[in-house]
Amino acid sequence: MLLSLPAVPSLIAAPLLPATRPLRAGPLASSHTVDEEQQQRSELHALLKSLEPYAEQPLEDATTLPPAAYTSTALFEREVETIFRPGWLCVGHVCQVREKGDYVTLDLLGELLLLVNDGTRLRVLSRVCTHRWAPVVGEGRGTCKAFTCPFHFWSFRLDGSCIKAPLMDDSTAFDAIEHPLHEYRSEVVDGFVYVNLDGAAPPLSSQLAGMSQRLVSWRPDEMESYIELTYDCPFNWKIVVETFMECYHHLGAHEATFEPNFPARLSWTEDARPAWTVGHAKPRPGREVSAFEAGLPRFPHLETEAERQAFALYNVFPSQLLHAMPDRVLWFRLQPLSAERTVVTTFCLVPPGTMQMEDFEATRDEQRELMDKINREDIAVNEMQQVGARSGAVRPGKLNSKLEKALWQLNAFVARAVCAH
Ligand code: FES
Ligand SMILES: [Fe+2]
Repeated sequence: MLLSLPAVPSLIAAPLLPATRPLRAGPLASSHTVDEEQQQRSELHALLKSLEPYAEQPLEDATTLPPAAYTSTALFEREVETIFRPGWLCVGHVCQVREKGDYVTLDLLGELLLLVNDGTRLRVLSRVCTHRWAPVVGEGRGTCKAFTCPFHFWSFRLDGSCIKAPLMDDSTAFDAIEHPLHEYRSEVVDGFVYVNLDGAAPPLSSQLAGMSQRLVSWRPDEMESYIELTYDCPFNWKIVVETFMECYHHLGAHEATFEPNFPARLSWTEDARPAWTVGHAKPRPGREVSAFEAGLPRFPHLETEAERQAFALYNVFPSQLLHAMPDRVLWFRLQPLSAERTVVTTFCLVPPGTMQMEDFEATRDEQRELMDKINREDIAVNEMQQVGARSGAVRPGKLNSKLEKALWQLNAFVARAVCAH
């Protein structure tokens, strides 16, 4: 059974999140002495100098970034300011909040996000109370009519407006209307919810138009999530993206699982668009049918043979990862916490009809087990790379210009962003 399943791209895996380990970290939680800050500044200056050539590195000369790009706290903070906060980050899918009052929380780069369906549209709000900053709702998901802060019982409508603030009538100069929850700029594209934390990014949907066209037969806004696995990964966010986007590692990490169906040598990556890129893998000759039999019905509206044989790996820069297959779409949501820590949640999305199939629960359990197994195959190699990056002996490694082209594309994206400011 295992060998007949489609390959899953580079998932990461790690122990499930320990309940006691806080997710909020990174720039907002860091504190440095003056000496440390000076040292970080000079290290960052040197690192940025070494990154400049990657913005225009010829593909035939492609190498990995310098190892410090995966370990430097100063560079991570630079990435937050020049890549993550100005960019579009995928934080959810419409299936998580289909009905009025549905909400789900997400902590991202120090921001406490609240994705909510207010009955007219989806909003990405801050769940930080506008009084004295307690979260108005705990982490998790649910359905409610309003949010009431546990500290002094200020309450807020689903659209974030303040309904009431007890005893504030006794105060001077208070008008509830002036104290709504902060709303972040957001867009829904193909069912995925994106947030732009600094509020200044150009609109996203037109930038993803070409990708939307590719995915139209999957009807991505109708998909439902039926598996969700979260991993606390001790490695840099770029390692997650890189290993997801290349199939070269099927040779080693997935030698017995995916290489027999989707061999490394049959994978390739298209030229990147400004906002996204996509790579593909082909089934091994003779396995064109069996490689795609995973026990799930296919998306019912796939029209072409190419769609029915799809093994497409999308990266919406910087960090949204989608793996489109004929029967399911895997979506990876990244929460970068520090230079060497990233929380990754993997979702498996299927057409709504799949969840009505006979023996669905047994199939779901089998799929979950398989996803987890593959995740753990990937974490082993991703962790190895992160550990290796700390060695004083390493220098940029030569990339395969065909099989690792997506890494070259990501390198250029990162270098242009962090060096431009
Ligand atoms: S902090 Fe929320 S009501 Fe006071
Ligand atoms: Fe993998």
